[in-house]
Amino acid sequence: MTDITPIYMSTSENLTNRREFFKTTGKYAAATALVGLTIPYVHAAGTETVQMALIGCGGRGTGATANALATSGQGPIKLVAMADVFQSKLDGSYSTLNRQYATQVEVPEDRRFIGFDGFKKAIDCLRAGDIAIFATPPVFRWVHFKYAIEKGVHVFMEKPISVDAPTGRRMIELGKEAEKKNLKIGVGLMVRHCRGRMALKKKIEEGAIGDILTLRSYRMHGPQASAFSDWGMKGDQSELLFQISRFHSFLWLSGGLFNDFYIHQVDESCWMKGEWPVKCHAVGGRHYRDNNIDQNFDHYQVEYTFKDGAQFYFYGRTMIGCKDDFSSIAHGTKGMGTISLGSHHLAKAGRIYKGHTVKRSEEVWAAFPENNAPDPYAMEWVDLVDAIRNNKPYNEVERAAEASMVTTMGRYAGHTGQEITWEDYKNNEQEFAPDADKLTLNSEAPLLADANNKYPVPQPGILKNREY
Ligand SMILES: NC(=O)c1ccc[n+]([C@@H]2O[C@H](COP(=O)([O-])OP(=O)(O)OC[C@H]3O[C@@H](n4cnc5c(N)ncnc54)[C@H](O)[C@@H]3O)[C@@H](O)[C@H]2O)c1
Repeated sequence: MTDITPIYMSTSENLTNRREFFKTTGKYAAATALVGLTIPYVHAAGTETVQMALIGCGGRGTGATANALATSGQGPIKLVAMADVFQSKLDGSYSTLNRQYATQVEVPEDRRFIGFDGFKKAIDCLRAGDIAIFATPPVFRWVHFKYAIEKGVHVFMEKPISVDAPTGRRMIELGKEAEKKNLKIGVGLMVRHCRGRMALKKKIEEGAIGDILTLRSYRMHGPQASAFSDWGMKGDQSELLFQISRFHSFLWLSGGLFNDFYIHQVDESCWMKGEWPVKCHAVGGRHYRDNNIDQNFDHYQVEYTFKDGAQFYFYGRTMIGCKDDFSSIAHGTKGMGTISLGSHHLAKAGRIYKGHTVKRSEEVWAAFPENNAPDPYAMEWVDLVDAIRNNKPYNEVERAAEASMVTTMGRYAGHTGQEITWEDYKNNEQEFAPDADKLTLNSEAPLLADANNKYPVPQPGILKNREY
């Protein structure tokens, strides 16, 4: 992980280094092409422009691409291809990006692709050493990542990067292949790039709050994104496209709201502890189903245990009219650290208190006392682009796959009603959509409603080793 100082303080120095690097790599590439080695960067020796393809042109894909284009101070960067399964999504994203970054968006109609194979066509527009951005529902990560590795392109992929244990294991294996090809792979767990959280982590490692005994984390708010769905939302779409358009509702696509929303809190809390938990158990249920047909529970509570016995309590609720909370807090033998308070941005978190309440009089340290920490969504791109341009090791896949799997382990415990160890969960065999790579626009959905128009939902205590 890069420190911010050299990037902010020395853009011109970076550019000089980059030119030197491309000069050298250009010669090396010419020599090694003869023996068939894959050396990403060959193209950049000529133009020094990094090109990107966006796959999954929704809200976050558009936002991530904007963050990427905003790194132009580190060197020229442009968007050259886009892919989605919905024309309207692609059109909306294109016009937003083109409005904001007109000179960096060069995506003529013949480089805008619709369909499940659009990702291949978009990646084929890139040269080795360019960047593919993946912001589709996470079930497609391994499918798209595999092809990007074959083509020798760097990747930024949104979290979560898997939906169940088998896809998590597959991503770890693919991550190793990417490593062998020296590809740089960033994952959208942007909190890991937040300068304030990085400083907090260092303070915790130095012992500022003593030994961590308890972590607690909350994500409680009203219904968000596409987590709850009813048949009225289907319209005349096929069942497959209906499910994709409401992907937080279906476990095969997103891993459910638990995986998609809660991974940040799970990851940032375990990061501060410095390890993954060894086991967990959980409760969860659904108070109000009304006409909804999605697979989610509306509340979950997970107790994760670390090997030293320390515990991490996670509380998630998606319900209106109840207390809202969005925070992660670490309690140690000497005090407390605030990891998040109200936002993925640092805001007023990244502080250490000598007691166990957020009280001004007890504050002993703040990463950014003026609350002016740089945007973590921008920083994750600053770091990735720096690694690409300066050939620094950068592969976040294993850690992110483990974060995804620790998250889905918590969901699994809630959905089955069983205690589960990390070792057992890592080997779990339930894969929700093993044929995600074979879908076409005319395919049947991997999950079908029954004769009563109901989708299967988890039944804790009845289905003990399957989530549905
Ligand atoms: N890091 C963060 O804080 C953050 C915030 C929001 C979303 N995300 C992540 O970004 C991802 C996308 O979320 P979103 O909110 O942008 O959803 P979205 O629905 O707005 O966008 C997803 C897009 O992917 C498209 N798509 C679906 N399947 C596809 C396929 N096979 N090929 C090509 N395109 C396909 C959809 O049509 C849609 O346009 C999710 O994994 C989500 O968890 C991360």
